[in-house]
Amino acid sequence: MAPAIAVGGGDMPVFEGRITVYVVACVIIAAFGGLMFGYDIGISGGVTAMDDFLERFFPRVYEKKKHAHEDNYCKYDNQFLQLFTSCLYLAALIASFVASRVCSKQGRRPTMQIASFFFLVGVVLTSAAFHISMLILGRLALGIGVGFANQAVPLFLSELAPAKIRGALNISFQLFITIGIFIANMVNYAMSNVHPYGWRLSLAIAGVPALFLCVGSMSICETPTSLIERGRLEEGRVVLQRIRGVANVDNEFDSIVHACEMANQVTKPFSKLMKRSSRPPLVIAILLQVFQQFTGINAIMFYAPVLFQTVGLGSEASLLSAVITGLVNVFSTLVSVYAVDKAGRRALLLEAVVQMFITQSIIGIILAIWLKPTGSLNKVEAIIVVILVCVFVMGFAWSWGPLGWLIPSETFPLETRTAGFAFAVSTNMLFTFLVAQAFLSMLCNMKAGIFFFFAAWIVVMGLFAMFLLPETKGVPVDAVTERVWKQHWFWKRFMDEEDVKPAAKAPSGIHPHLT
Ligand code: BGC
Repeated sequence: MAPAIAVGGGDMPVFEGRITVYVVACVIIAAFGGLMFGYDIGISGGVTAMDDFLERFFPRVYEKKKHAHEDNYCKYDNQFLQLFTSCLYLAALIASFVASRVCSKQGRRPTMQIASFFFLVGVVLTSAAFHISMLILGRLALGIGVGFANQAVPLFLSELAPAKIRGALNISFQLFITIGIFIANMVNYAMSNVHPYGWRLSLAIAGVPALFLCVGSMSICETPTSLIERGRLEEGRVVLQRIRGVANVDNEFDSIVHACEMANQVTKPFSKLMKRSSRPPLVIAILLQVFQQFTGINAIMFYAPVLFQTVGLGSEASLLSAVITGLVNVFSTLVSVYAVDKAGRRALLLEAVVQMFITQSIIGIILAIWLKPTGSLNKVEAIIVVILVCVFVMGFAWSWGPLGWLIPSETFPLETRTAGFAFAVSTNMLFTFLVAQAFLSMLCNMKAGIFFFFAAWIVVMGLFAMFLLPETKGVPVDAVTERVWKQHWFWKRFMDEEDVKPAAKAPSGIHPHLT
């Protein structure tokens, strides 16, 4: 049996409890939501590089690709092909607004059930598609699933986790996303030689985590916070006793009740968020997401196989290279879990800026010099590009990837945390959509210049991290206003006294997304 833990210290209350088997089981089930998201990110690139798929749904792209004299940089440039990848994020963006309401009014569990239902519908439609409209409808359904899952799962994980491991669990969601991407890369590699329906199998395999989430979400509990928030206090207490494995949960129960009362006093969190004093965390949450996407990471996550084919690797070698970048992504995220509370957020972000700038620039230079519109790189040059992509992914995965999510969850005061986080999620989806929709056309128009475009953004985000992003390592979430914003050379001017009421003291057991 896991050892009992007591979380507290200083003036913090002590929370009794163990990491129970039940919590571990619930966490694993919920994590399948992250896995689904990752799988959807990783699967489309491989599928869109498969000839059987292209021939059936995108015959013009297929024809272009077959003709050796076609421009290297433009062979995949097709708005519909990009729409296949990108429409998922548009659906997720819209669904996340509905999901945030369902999540607070009905609870985390039903939100996850709805997510798994849409995932299943999406899997059936995409894998059985005989017409492009069915394919796009399926992707939209998957997007709705992603919108619901991304709202509920991080919330569920942080509410269920004992306070002591909450930070690690926050990054674990990102870890599951990367595992999902990696599994999708491997599946694509395995399916590339299965003709003519390898692509159908690639899309159908997403049904496994979706089914798991669907069945699993019937058997998991609602979180105590969600129950208490909706006035079901006694049920909340019983669930808390069950998940902590002890009878005495008074301290944690009281602190959840207290936090819910405080949060409920702010009846209009969105208008509070528009106040001047909310500007610093809001601007930072939004910019982190914009910058995260303008690193160019999803150009690689979505289109790595296509990109590697563009530089001249064969179809199979390209898919294998995508598997390698997927693996690098998973392991580098683990580095972040370990380093984030030791090195601090800014150190990781700034180091990665240098690493990503150098790699994007060298890739740009190599392509500009050696990859002409026709012909291809030689083997050594192509392998150098793959290595550089891996080093780039490594930098992203231990910094802007997980921290793009972690920092917004720890810089808003309690009363605007959920609303603020919703902005972060929707900005992410919007810019993911833009990159997915535009990348192949930009590659065609800007050629190697696209890599300098991303490199230029990396310089901008480096300056942002250097001058405008405060360090939040080790600062309790409820002390951020006093210890971070009011002390910062730039952001302190937004802290008008009458606007910044003493922050509601969030007991240490409270997750960052309470409404
Ligand atoms: C980003 C995704 C990206 C993934 C790569 C996430 O943090 O939000 O857009 O595909 O990292 O691992």
